[in-house]
Amino acid sequence: MRMPHRGRLFLATCLGSLFVLVLYFQSITKPEPGVKTGSRPGKSRRSPLQTLYNGEQQELQAAQRSLQGRRELLEQACLSHTRKRRVLSPEDLKHLIVDDKHSLIYCYVPKVACTNWKRVLMVLTSNGRYTDPLAIPANEAHVAGNLRTLSEFSVPEINRRLRNYLKFIFVRDPFERLVSAYRNKFTRSYNTAFHKRYGTKIIRRHRPNPDPDALDKGSDVSFREFVQYLVDPRTQREEPFNEHWERVHTLCHPCLIHYDVVGKYETLEPDSEAVLRLAGVEETLQFPTSGKSTRTDGNMAAHFFKGISSFYQKKLFNMYRMDFLLFNYSTPEYLRIR
Ligand SMILES: *[C@@H]1O[C@H](CO)[C@@H](O)[C@H](O)[C@H]1NC(C)=O
Repeated sequence: MRMPHRGRLFLATCLGSLFVLVLYFQSITKPEPGVKTGSRPGKSRRSPLQTLYNGEQQELQAAQRSLQGRRELLEQACLSHTRKRRVLSPEDLKHLIVDDKHSLIYCYVPKVACTNWKRVLMVLTSNGRYTDPLAIPANEAHVAGNLRTLSEFSVPEINRRLRNYLKFIFVRDPFERLVSAYRNKFTRSYNTAFHKRYGTKIIRRHRPNPDPDALDKGSDVSFREFVQYLVDPRTQREEPFNEHWERVHTLCHPCLIHYDVVGKYETLEPDSEAVLRLAGVEETLQFPTSGKSTRTDGNMAAHFFKGISSFYQKKLFNMYRMDFLLFNYSTPEYLRIR
């Protein structure tokens, strides 16, 4: 049955207003304290959200102070840098992964350890089918449908989860993330899908006199060409950015959804541990810290930005500015934008 256009529009408006109301409500309430059944304290499990805001355990407190600092900074930055509250629709919640068993919501950001976090969430939601995150192949972790996203639920069900679950996100220095996306998608020979889909277009538009082979394969895009593609107004007019270079601000709506924990790639291990502890699974599950060199690529951006003119550096910085401001990343020293 097809709804007439009007009807759909009306429905969308209704859904929209529900969202605004509830998200606003959410921002002025704190979660209710956990119900304790005094006789059997071992059985009264608090939700992660309750543990975070009513935590008594000593060992949690130092970690919590730094998480609280980030939360407050984010809130403050949202207040000073966003003008209007936008309306969220279920479509905006496709990056929010839900774990009903442990009352968790995770917004995944590509190039910020998201494969490992998806693996962990698959273990958590698998009812024992998986126990070791690293036993799950990376491509399996990215199969749509292996994990549930918030966008799949009805509006009341979405709002209930937003109110009661621990919402967390992991972020990274925006330009380190961008360079990581470029290197992964454009400098590795196996990523032919990205070369075809984006590389050929980038070369057609941003390389003067390209040779036919490059036009056909799209496999040798330079970082400079990639940057030109990003700041070209046509790019975002035609379609949204691919999630690997889309801004966290756009992927996860951190000024509309009040994240309880903002984890950082730069402190991935302790921050992940803190989330697993809040979820009460720290004894059975360890966050996989892959043997791969996550640390050595910490300074890639400086190297790649050397070849970018200050004109394009400025444009690119403006484009990613919110991600710098909201998550307390300072303007990189290597930029020539002053
Ligand atoms: C923000 O970043 C500065 C400089 O790196 C740091 O000193 C400060 O502690 C950070 N603030 C929070 C709340 O994380």
